This record gives sequence, C-alpha cells and structure tokens, in this order.
Amino acid sequence: RKVVKVGLLGLGTVGSGVVKMLRQNVEELAQKCGYEVEIQRVLVRDLEKMRAVDVERHMLTRDVQDILEDPEVRIVIEVMGGEEQTKEIVLQALQAGKHVITANKDLVALHGALLHRAADENGVELLYEAAVAGAIPIVRVLKQSFAADNVREVMGIVNGTTNYILSKMTAEGAAYEDALAEAQQLGYAEADPHADVSGLDAARKMAILASISFRQAVELADVKLEGIESVTQQDVERAKAGGQVIKLIGRARREGSAIEVSVAPMWLEAAHPLAKVGDCFNAVYVYADALGEAMLYGRGAGEMPTASAVVGDLLAVLRGRKFAAAQPQQMARWA
Ligand code: NDP
Ligand code: HSE
Repeated sequence: RKVVKVGLLGLGTVGSGVVKMLRQNVEELAQKCGYEVEIQRVLVRDLEKMRAVDVERHMLTRDVQDILEDPEVRIVIEVMGGEEQTKEIVLQALQAGKHVITANKDLVALHGALLHRAADENGVELLYEAAVAGAIPIVRVLKQSFAADNVREVMGIVNGTTNYILSKMTAEGAAYEDALAEAQQLGYAEADPHADVSGLDAARKMAILASISFRQAVELADVKLEGIESVTQQDVERAKAGGQVIKLIGRARREGSAIEVSVAPMWLEAAHPLAKVGDCFNAVYVYADALGEAMLYGRGAGEMPTASAVVGDLLAVLRGRKFAAAQPQQMARWA
C-alpha cells in the first residue's frame, strides 16, 4: 500500500483531534482511500508546549518552509487560524502543487475567491468543510447534493460558542461570562472569543454559505451583523416567560438578483425547530425550489467533530481525480 505524507499546520484543539483520528483509524482510512496517511511535519509556535497528543519532537517545526518545500508532502492541513500570514502560506502551498484542507472560515470568507483560483490554476483541491458548522457536511451538500437546485434561503445556528452560552443562560440561568469561559475550556471558542460573541465568526460562515448557495462571491463586509454581547440575563428570562428562546441566527436570502445576509440574535417560539438546538450544536435550514425544505443538525465545534470534517476532506482529496496516483482498486468495496 502507498503512503501519503501530510503537513499539519497547527496542533491546538482541531490539530490534536486530526492527529488522534488519523492514528486511531489508520487501517480503516487506508481501506477507504487506498493510502496510508502519515503526518510528516507539524507547524507550531511553541516547540516546548505540553500537547494533548504525543508527537515526536523531531516532527514539530516553527518554520513553515519545512513543510512547503518538502516535495514528499502532498497535502497540507491548515488548522492554525489567522488570516494574512495564513493566506500567504496557503497560497504558497497551492502554488507548490499541494492540496489544501482548511478549517479556517476567516481565511475562506476573506480570500476564498483568490484561493480557489490558485487551486484551479495548479490543479489541486482546496476543501474547507470544517470551516462551516463543524461536523455538519453543509459545504459539500450545498456544492454537490443541492447543486442542481435553486437555493433561495439558508438560515440557522452556525456558531457553537454563542449557542452554548445562550443555551446555558436559558436552561441553567448561567452567567454570560461563566458560560463563555466554559465554551473556551471545551475548545469551542476562537483564539479571540470576541469573534464568536460579536457575531463575526457566524458572519464569516454565512458569507461562505451564501457564496456557495448563490454561486457568486458574497463579501464579509456586506453581511449585516449583531452579536450576543448585549443580550442580558433579563432578556433571556423575559423571552422564557413568553415561551420563547433567544438564538443567534444567520440568514442568507436571495430575491431576484438581490442577496441579503445577516447575523443577529432572534427571539424564537420554543416550538421552533431551531429553538431546540442546544449546547454547541449547529443547525442549518435550506430552502430550494425543487427540494423544498431541508435541515442539517450536528455538533458545530470542538476537537473531534471538527477533526471528523477535516479528515473527511482528506479522504475526499485522496479519492479524488486530482490526486494523480489514486489507486481505487485498493479501496474497500463500499468505501
Ligand atoms: P488553537 O488555538 O487551539 O490552535 C492553533 C494551533 O496553531 C496551535 O497549535 C498553535 O501553535 C498553532 N499556530 C497558530 N498560529 C501559528 C503561527 N503563526 N505559526 C505556527 N503555529 C501557529 O485553535 P483551534 O484548533 O481551535 O482552531 C484552529 C482553526 O480551526 C481556526 O481557524 C478555527 O477557526 C478553526 N475551527 C476551530 C473549531 C473549534 O471547535 N475549535 C471548529 C471549526 C474550525 P501553539 O500550540 O504552539 O501555540
Ligand atoms: N468558534 C467556533 C464556534 C468554532 O464556536 O462555532 C467552530 O467553527
């Protein structure tokens, strides 16, 4: 069986999950794609830090060129976050003919068009299922399964941290700050959690979903956004007393040529399907002409759910036509 070498950028919450998943499932993954996946090098900031997974010291590097210039590395998994510097790194990887998988919604929302162009020009894949709604396969569904349809509206809960906070405030009367601290502890929040609570993270995801759904670039700057920072415990109690719950809702709608995308806290009737989405779960509702209504639901953040989406993309690359040396005959029959 052939071995494929992967470069991992980042070994935090998501990176650790990816390492665990690759190590736990070597044989199964190999049966599904025909390759044994090996992590060649891992980019980190701090070489001495205690890690959630055991990674041999010689595999760690602070120099991204160790990965970008290594001809053996054919796939780069970017789970380090950041925007400007990360854009340059990902561009270099694509230009070096490496397939890229990223969980970085900031990067895709701001530079998706540029990166897609670079991927196309270099005949490689750029996949980012984990960037939107964690484990929910919404990117693939919108790009592939619903591709024949005319999507009119995408709406839902696309940030796990704020949903965790609002759910804790509603169900347990938890204080906002305590619930946020727990979400950070659980690995749901962004490195700067202001991105979560300000609605920016959800806005990035909605810009990506709108661009895919409506087949045209929707700029992050055009997303109207309001976060949950001003939602008080009194608001939550008042909503509850009226049989309602407060949720941070992202919405993207197309009417003729007009596209409107927004993120804002909304008061929903307790019986509304999105009102029941608790913890760090996400849910995305899609309305399209032929399909009618569909809703996808699942864990929107956290180590293993996000790793599942990243490794799913890795399999998609390995099984895809662009991965030149694919050996489909070695795959399990129903893989
Ligand atoms: P963490 O902060 O836990 O991990 C980031 C990792 O990247 C760390 O290992 C850090 O190194 C490394 N890193 C960051 N910047 C640099 C740099 N400039 N040079 C070298 N290494 C660097 O983040 P997460 O794992 O939570 O998130 C990673 C990405 O995945 C982000 O884009 C995030 O938005 C996205 N994401 C996160 C989800 C989650 O649930 N956490 C879900 C979906 C997407 P060191 O450890 O040495 O500091
Ligand atoms: N901080 C993000 C969230 C991680 O809470 O949804 C998943 O994208």
